[in-house]
Amino acid sequence: MSRRVAVFISGSGSNMVQLLDSMTGDHPGRPCVVLSNEPTAAGLDKAQARGVATEIIRHQPFSGDRAAFESAVSAALAPYAPDLICLAGFMRKLTGGFTDQWQGRMLNIHPSLLPKYKGLNTHARALAAGDSQHGCTVHEVTAALDDGPILGQAKVPVLEGDTPDTLADRVLVQEHRLYPMVLRRFCAGDRTPVHLTA
Ligand code: GRF
Repeated sequence: MSRRVAVFISGSGSNMVQLLDSMTGDHPGRPCVVLSNEPTAAGLDKAQARGVATEIIRHQPFSGDRAAFESAVSAALAPYAPDLICLAGFMRKLTGGFTDQWQGRMLNIHPSLLPKYKGLNTHARALAAGDSQHGCTVHEVTAALDDGPILGQAKVPVLEGDTPDTLADRVLVQEHRLYPMVLRRFCAGDRTPVHLTA
């Protein structure tokens, strides 16, 4: 039976689109819902255009009470009975209560070669450090931010004259290759890390 995959977004959802479009044919997963904390997230229309249900749970009304926000998220998810959650540009930190509940069943994509540059502004930080290589990582989500077991990485070169934006664009191309590849393997029970180069 197919694994039911929920995808969480906050913005444009370009990784989400790649995940949704990959889950066809003999893929062992199928999308069941796309959830956003931002009502204006452009990814919501893209999910609906693909016939995938969407849910919006705004975080603002919870005034920083992350556990209460997550309870609302869990209630919204329940009818879809997901087996897995893919975070795809979901810009809320999750509490240990939520990550423990989904341990081993929740993935994230992060735009750096973890363990380097956890958190934000990864492209600017790679440039400031003078790195010759940068990239992205898909990992299992644990209570510590951007820290769970690594399931795959894709590397890109840092080029002369790169800005955070040009580097982000180069990394994003690899995110779109890496995340669907890792999800397919993960749905099939394969957690062996994959390594891609641009
Ligand atoms: C990606 O770079 C992802 O790695 C980061 O946020 C960005 C989301 O882009 N967490 P998109 O919404 O998938 O287009």
